Amino acid sequence: MKIISALSSFFNHDGVRNSNFIARYNCTKFAKKFDLLRRYHNQEPIIRAINEIYPLEGARIVEIGAGTGVFSQELVNAGASVIPLDKSPFMLKVFRENFLKENLNLKFSNPLLADHRHIPLPSCWADVVLSSFSLDSIIYDNPEDKWQFEIDNVIREMLRVTKKSGAVIIIATPYGKRDFTGHIERVWGFKRKLIKTLWHFPSKKSAKDALTLFFGKRVWNDYSPNFPKAVVTIAGIWWQN
Ligand SMILES: C[S@@+](CC[C@H](N)C(=O)[O-])C[C@H]1O[C@@H](n2cnc3c(N)ncnc32)[C@H](O)[C@@H]1O
Repeated sequence: MKIISALSSFFNHDGVRNSNFIARYNCTKFAKKFDLLRRYHNQEPIIRAINEIYPLEGARIVEIGAGTGVFSQELVNAGASVIPLDKSPFMLKVFRENFLKENLNLKFSNPLLADHRHIPLPSCWADVVLSSFSLDSIIYDNPEDKWQFEIDNVIREMLRVTKKSGAVIIIATPYGKRDFTGHIERVWGFKRKLIKTLWHFPSKKSAKDALTLFFGKRVWNDYSPNFPKAVVTIAGIWWQN
């Protein structure tokens, strides 16, 4: 398989104005579209890397910003039990539909409506508190002089809920317009690992829809003649344990 391009961002930042990230999740149509297209991103290398940080088998994980549950499902498949949280009732509605539809009588708790900064769980409760691509609204919907303060509130809350022997894990894109990852490395001492992940598309239409949604029209135009080759993206994992 040939890799055709390296993308630096999960979500297209072009044209995203202040207070735009969280707004997009508050819509049923978007939630359903996200749920469908998110599945073309292969999570295997991310799961493998997490397993090296904290063994997933039997772990109790709180996933903040769990969305429609695509990543939560991978965690459950790897042997963890997951308590999903999210601020968008629309994303959580799709989560619940997936949960019922696929009859996953697994290790999911009922997803809870919650903001990253107020996790409705006791202190030292989880083995792992994890975010998978869910911090953009905190980083970009806040003004320049406020986002670091808000990120610090999120990290503090993640640490509060994690057992002393556990881990806080953040999966994100390494090259955003604001130096979020530098901030959590410098201020909070997070460690970092970068990994290559692939997107595979079953049809040209699915490739167009996914690339346009997640990376913007320009990326789709560049990639389009290369369909059906895979698209490679770089994901980062930051952790504290
Ligand atoms: C890109 S989606 C990621 C969903 C899931 N983690 C995944 O990997 O498929 C980001 C999710 O974070 C949620 N989110 C964004 N800001 C949030 C906040 N401040 N508190 C709770 N959830 C938030 C959104 O509603 C959305 O469902």
